[in-house]
Amino acid sequence: MKMNENFFISKAIDPLPYESNWEAPSNIALIKYWGKKNLQIPKNPSLSFTLDKSVTRTSIRFEPSKSGKFNFKFFFNDSLKPDFDDKLHVFFDRIKKYVCWITNYELTIKSINTFPHSSGIASSASAMAALSLAIMDLESYLFNFEKNDFFFTKASFLARIGSGSASRSIKGPVTIWGDNRKISNSSDLYAIEFGKDLNSIFKSYQDIILLVDKESKNVSSTKGHDLMHSNPYAEKRFLQARRNCDSLIPIMKSGDLDAFIKIVELEALSLHAMMMTSNPYYILMKPNTLSIIEKLWDFRKEKNIPACFTMDAGANVHILYPSEYEKQMIPFIDQELSSFCKNKEYIVDQVGAGARKLD
Ligand code: DP6
Repeated sequence: MKMNENFFISKAIDPLPYESNWEAPSNIALIKYWGKKNLQIPKNPSLSFTLDKSVTRTSIRFEPSKSGKFNFKFFFNDSLKPDFDDKLHVFFDRIKKYVCWITNYELTIKSINTFPHSSGIASSASAMAALSLAIMDLESYLFNFEKNDFFFTKASFLARIGSGSASRSIKGPVTIWGDNRKISNSSDLYAIEFGKDLNSIFKSYQDIILLVDKESKNVSSTKGHDLMHSNPYAEKRFLQARRNCDSLIPIMKSGDLDAFIKIVELEALSLHAMMMTSNPYYILMKPNTLSIIEKLWDFRKEKNIPACFTMDAGANVHILYPSEYEKQMIPFIDQELSSFCKNKEYIVDQVGAGARKLD
């Protein structure tokens, strides 16, 4: 069932102390979300692989507020991190309408990531997803409901309000966020699972993340989305993404890898084309990004292995391939691609099942 915004507004209730621990993964988009309106209402649908090992673990201790006012403290890797306070304040202000009971609490939030900072893995996606799940955990306790579809859908809805791509980090192995005509229950407000028709080849897909550059990006995703408002190619891009999503959906069912590769690589390069045609223009790829792409294309042609690349808003390259090619891919990456990475570093990940509650 498709839910509208009113489904997600909860009532007020007296506070109770509670603690919740969740782990949520990052994700890598195959159809890219780039351009939005209002609070992360996407201009086109997006589709992603949920990752497995690249996760955020978050615990929240909820205490009834002594001052009667909402407050929080945020710790990252066991140290108090006030740098994130502004972003978190904005998030809590935005979600209060939907979880109004939260205003009676003081929160102690503790987070860690299993992947390095600025590694090109979307940490805001896993972080906002884990946070939203811990909040939903308390809501389900207070209002006494199961961790059912509504639970995870509202978690995705709240995560979207924190960061658009976070909506896709609740479930796995493949999720879709954004209204599209191929899937009737898809929504701009939250992501849904691709579902049981997903071809089994995609359930164990590998993702090797080549760390070309570990510096912070000089143009943030927030700014990048904003520049789409004045990009002369924006409307065409949204149309292209919509069509690519329509084409990719049957491919995710059939497992046609040649067709998969064509769409996934086109999406990655189209995302970066939008950066290059924004005003002001910018380039996030580095020379090594292009060297990796060329090497991969040569290797694919020579060995006939269906490996392809995608990219986030950064210089790093994700190499995607079916798990059966691991024996050929790992030596290739080690010997031919790792020299293009900072300190030869890369992360070995794969498609995962989604977030989980920790004991
Ligand atoms: C290139 O979700 O980080 O990774 O909604 O402003 O927080 P905000 O942006 P964000 O944008 C992600 C952009 C992308 C593509 C994608 O994940 O679909």
